[in-house]
Amino acid sequence: MSTDKGKAPANGTAASLPYELPWVEKYRPKTLDDVVGNSETIERLKVVARDGNCPHIILSGLPGIGKTTSIHCLAHQLLGDAYKEGVLELNASDERGIDVVRNKVKAFAQKKVTLPPGRHKIVILDEADSMTPGAQQALRRTMEIFANTTRFALACNMSNKIIEPIQSRCAILRYAKLRDAEVLRRLLEICEMEGVKYNDDGLTALIFTAEGDMRQAINNLQSTFSGFGFVSADNVFKVCDQPHPVVVQAMIRSCLKGDVENAMEKLNELWNHGYSAVDIVVTIFRVVKTFDEIPEYTKLEYIKEIGFTHMRILEGVSTLIQLGGLMARLCKMNLKPELFKI
Ligand SMILES: Nc1ncnc2c1ncn2[C@@H]1O[C@H](COP(=O)(O)OP(=O)(O)OP(=O)(O)O)[C@@H](O)[C@H]1O
Ligand SMILES: [Mg+2]
Repeated sequence: MSTDKGKAPANGTAASLPYELPWVEKYRPKTLDDVVGNSETIERLKVVARDGNCPHIILSGLPGIGKTTSIHCLAHQLLGDAYKEGVLELNASDERGIDVVRNKVKAFAQKKVTLPPGRHKIVILDEADSMTPGAQQALRRTMEIFANTTRFALACNMSNKIIEPIQSRCAILRYAKLRDAEVLRRLLEICEMEGVKYNDDGLTALIFTAEGDMRQAINNLQSTFSGFGFVSADNVFKVCDQPHPVVVQAMIRSCLKGDVENAMEKLNELWNHGYSAVDIVVTIFRVVKTFDEIPEYTKLEYIKEIGFTHMRILEGVSTLIQLGGLMARLCKMNLKPELFKI
């Protein structure tokens, strides 16, 4: 064992530690009732938790929206005190090749444990999309043979990475991105409990940057609060390091007036801050999408142009000239056609 100078003190003194648990963990929901959003899916899980007949399930959806949390809540509610013996959790950090499925999972499925009546052992395979197809193949028959004692719960970001035969054995529950109002509600609760000082623009900025990812919203809230002591839009964008939507809005406003010089000035400002072309174009898209000062028709045309530029950038042409070209086209749409006659 090393005797590191910087080592944290032993657990016994945890109460006096200056370190704080990340809020994402501190406020990880303990029961299905606390999980926000995706109400239909959560309702189904609650019915399973109550009645106990858990089918094999796959939860699939984007990161940070409550998949792992829901599975753990479900397992806790189903098994209660027997959770420790009744659950085998394997995630992407564990070795999950064919051998592990053949030995560890099978051994767990064969093990005898005392559970509440009508309940089954649960194998949680988190981040299951990272399992090799070979390992997934090895699961097929295991899932069937031990179905009377053991149920499988898989979580993944992309359900198409799960092989068809496994999908056909499971109920697939899809998690959608959380709505702004849902993220806001949770953020307000946490602000209240932690005594965070904030203003409305700050919370809007957190929701804007998180794009429906609760984990990111909570992490950014904590970083902003611990870094600046106050959650305002400016502080949030300093922490998140994304182009400031207010600058982008000003840029779009100039385009609407056909003022290319001003638009280019704002673009240069962002570029000189070191933001990449993708960052800038993605923020332009998100600002335009929700900007109510743009008439509907213009908005559609703008989004089309932004889409083309995004495509070019992803093809590798991520230069200031491309973004400048986009500005020029957005301005041109608002200038009189006569001006372009030669
Ligand atoms: N629906 C939700 N309700 C409340 N808190 C949530 C919700 N979704 C995520 N969180 C918060 O975000 C953290 C991470 O959530 P979780 O681990 O469930 O994400 P995940 O969907 O499994 O993501 P990944 O795909 O990256 O594994 C939780 O600890 C919790 O604090
Ligand atoms: Mg997870």
